[in-house]
Amino acid sequence: MATKIPSPFIDAVLARTDIVELVGGRVPLRKAGRDYKACCPFHEERTPSFTVSADKQFYHCFGCGAHGSAIGFLMNYDRLGFVEAVTELARRAGLEMPQEGRPAVKAGPDLRPVLAAGARYFQEALRHHPSAERAQAYLKGRGITGAIAKGFQLGYAPPGWNGLLNALASDFEPSLLERAGLVIAREGAAGFYDRFRDRVMFPIADARGHIIGFGGRVLDQGEPKYMNSPETALFHKGREIYGLPQALDAIDKAGQVVVVEGYMDVLALSQFGVTHVVATLGTATTREHLDRLFRYAPEIVFCFDGDRAGREAAWRALEQALSVLKDGRQVSFLFLPEGEDPDTLVRAEGAAEFQARLRRATELPEFFFETLCARADLSRLDGRARLVELAKPLLSKLAKGALYELMIGRLAELTALKAPQAEVLVPARAEETRRAEPLVPVRGGSLVRQAVALLLQYPALIEEVGELPLAGRPGMDVLAALVALLRETPGLTTGAVLERFADSPHRSTLARLAVWEYPSLLPDHKGVMRDIMRTLNEQARAAKAKERHNFLINKGNLTPNEQAELVAYLRSRNPGEQ
Ligand code: UTP
Ligand code: MN
Repeated sequence: MATKIPSPFIDAVLARTDIVELVGGRVPLRKAGRDYKACCPFHEERTPSFTVSADKQFYHCFGCGAHGSAIGFLMNYDRLGFVEAVTELARRAGLEMPQEGRPAVKAGPDLRPVLAAGARYFQEALRHHPSAERAQAYLKGRGITGAIAKGFQLGYAPPGWNGLLNALASDFEPSLLERAGLVIAREGAAGFYDRFRDRVMFPIADARGHIIGFGGRVLDQGEPKYMNSPETALFHKGREIYGLPQALDAIDKAGQVVVVEGYMDVLALSQFGVTHVVATLGTATTREHLDRLFRYAPEIVFCFDGDRAGREAAWRALEQALSVLKDGRQVSFLFLPEGEDPDTLVRAEGAAEFQARLRRATELPEFFFETLCARADLSRLDGRARLVELAKPLLSKLAKGALYELMIGRLAELTALKAPQAEVLVPARAEETRRAEPLVPVRGGSLVRQAVALLLQYPALIEEVGELPLAGRPGMDVLAALVALLRETPGLTTGAVLERFADSPHRSTLARLAVWEYPSLLPDHKGVMRDIMRTLNEQARAAKAKERHNFLINKGNLTPNEQAELVAYLRSRNPGEQ
């Protein structure tokens, strides 16, 4: 299935396609837990074993083994060729197919050095550019200290059309600067110009501190107030979190992460010592945000305006949160007084008062029932029935557990139903009741296999993969290839990853691992991933030490240093024998 279509284009097509919508248009799907089910369109069956996963952007039939991405589904269902299927999806997504004859790009270039250079350029300009004074004065006027400016690598995009373009020209092709979102191609003419001009620049970094994009604020009036990097291979506005690397330690210590709306809010709170704070980039809270945030702390406090828009935004966040809440996780909402944001508030009241507000934040269950009760008249019988109707679809998103029980109990209280009756009204969630099991001992699933499966199923776990031990174990090459792909192209879904391996001999193994429900992989993915990587590295080190030991034993005639080394090794193996 050789193809001339560049992989980044296929990634882009898949990123803009929803497989659930695509399949659902042809096969009636029923929601089952997180996934969707149907009777398999590819073989005869009475009970549905065909599953479509929105998270993974992947379908799989447990009956006949059919599987694939949105592209594979169209190929099989509509009997299209590969190129035809991609063309059809591109059309639906409003993307233009890459022209023939243009060299196919194998994989996108690494944009991180480009963005890092851009950030250095902006930082330098904030200090030394001839027009930097205005930017410095602006930041000073907003109360930003030098330390904060430095800690968040604030910069300045000078006025003019090609400051950055010229400054970085010796190191990067303009087309690469364009891919990184730093410059824009002139329409209808040759050449490029700087995207960010005369703005204070806020670099946005991933959890490891690599810069992936920027937000830029105008100094006085002007539209838009904030301009952000466009969607690039690295930057996806709807999932990014501002301030993560700076906040990680504090989040860890606090066991809590505070989520605000603006860059300036993060800076102000940090400056006042509320450092476990991050921001979304002016978009509604997504599942992805929540998934990512819960990887760092069990408790999220959202700060929203107290006005109607703020409450509506909070409600949308609540709706997203329900499906990722499980026991031990908490979400609260801090509603701010009208006309204030965390920036203005903490500067006016100080950190202690803001911390006190955080402690008084409205817990999710309270906000949940308060909001729903306002929409139903509980003094009437049919009003109480209405409350149940409103609560039903929402509570059914919750995983079973203590929180679920408590919410059902509260619903029962409010409606004067007996708890078991209330529960009957809420369809139970099929899955998510699984028990945690210890990682080792392992049967059937080698650690490498588990690592591959986890990364395939939860590509975001790439952030947990540190150093990779070098080859030497079966499957290590596949793991290495997968890690390289995910590092280079963050944000791929399972379906998109499998599409990248479509021509690989490992293709079908990978597809099986993508739906492999190995018990130890189910709970706490992040922790399991880290454990696996640690163990793999330890084992690699032990193997190397053993090899050295065998070498020394066979060598004979050891130098005193080698003798000492051998003794140390034997001691380390049998610490008791001293
Ligand atoms: P706000 O308009 O609340 O701005 O936007 P702010 O953070 O209080 O900014 P200041 O205090 O006026 O400087 C909140 C967030 O929404 C996004 C930005 O991420 C901003 O921080 N936003 C806002 C945009 O992306 N574009 C805009 O034009 C405005
Ligand atoms: Mn503000």
